[in-house]
Amino acid sequence: MKEYTFENYKELIEEHLTDFIPDIDHKSITLYDAMKYSLAAGGKRVRPVLLLAACDFCGGNVEEALPYACAVEYIHTYSLIHDDLPCMDDDDMRRGQPTNHKVYGEAIATLAGDGLQSAAFEAMSRDMLLYLDDDKALKNRIRAYNEICRGSGVRGIIAGQVADIEAEDRNCSPEMLDYIHLTKTATLITAAIRAGAMLGDADSDTLERLTVYGENLGLAFQIRDDILDIIGEEEEMGKKSGMDSIKKKATYPSLYGLEESKARLHARTARAIEVLKPYYDNAEVLVKLAENLEVRGN
Ligand code: IPE
Ligand code: IPE
Ligand code: MG
Ligand code: MG
Ligand code: MG
Repeated sequence: MKEYTFENYKELIEEHLTDFIPDIDHKSITLYDAMKYSLAAGGKRVRPVLLLAACDFCGGNVEEALPYACAVEYIHTYSLIHDDLPCMDDDDMRRGQPTNHKVYGEAIATLAGDGLQSAAFEAMSRDMLLYLDDDKALKNRIRAYNEICRGSGVRGIIAGQVADIEAEDRNCSPEMLDYIHLTKTATLITAAIRAGAMLGDADSDTLERLTVYGENLGLAFQIRDDILDIIGEEEEMGKKSGMDSIKKKATYPSLYGLEESKARLHARTARAIEVLKPYYDNAEVLVKLAENLEVRGN
């Protein structure tokens, strides 16, 4: 059996990333180009890697999980396109390239985001149709699909993005800040991990532990993003820094200061790692990933 590293999972995703985009009529080539532009611009691919790694960890077939992993990256990429629009964070650079609306205009960028989101649901449901005669495989796929729908939905990213915008230039309570960060970021990260676990037919204790891992890692991920907005190198991040203070965003550093934010990031990372302790070296990829994300520079 192949032992995967983060890089192996990432390579697999890069290789298959556009495989699950439906064939589009040539008359809609602008839509297709705009969708592919943001996907191809790069990105760390953290969410699909987590989905594959969780599936693998639970004994599932990594290649069979690809439609779900790529779907999560489509959803994440759509959320970035919309996040950068002038009506939201109004950003010009993303993944080292001009943002989608800078190249294609706001209307096409909005629709390219919509297209990526619906392509994600089509990719997963098309895969499910292949398993109509295999009850167990179908059941695991439906459960994974539901996780990803929830993570991207009105109790996930969308709720978080609304709360993020409503909190601009206002006093934000610690509870509200965590609500924003959990919904806009940690929920999809947790959903990716849980979906991978479900595709791997995880037992309930493992699913529970991976959920705690995901929630802590997801919150840590957004805390690091907030910190990088202050201390990160634009070149390495592929996006502008300093935007959160310009937009008066509710962030960890704005509420707690930089040092306390780093301490909270560390505590979340430590908790994510601790919950996987019973698995010893078997959880090495997930543990390493959490350690690396704590100190990431992009
Ligand atoms: C950026 O996500 C938006 C957040 C939720 C913090 P990533 O940092 O995963 O962005 P890419 O995919 O690597 O570009
Ligand atoms: C974005 O958070 C969260 C999303 C759901 C897209 P940010 O607005 O902080 O992400 P960046 O810093 O623009 O990547
Ligand atoms: Mg934002
Ligand atoms: Mg933003
Ligand atoms: Mg940010």
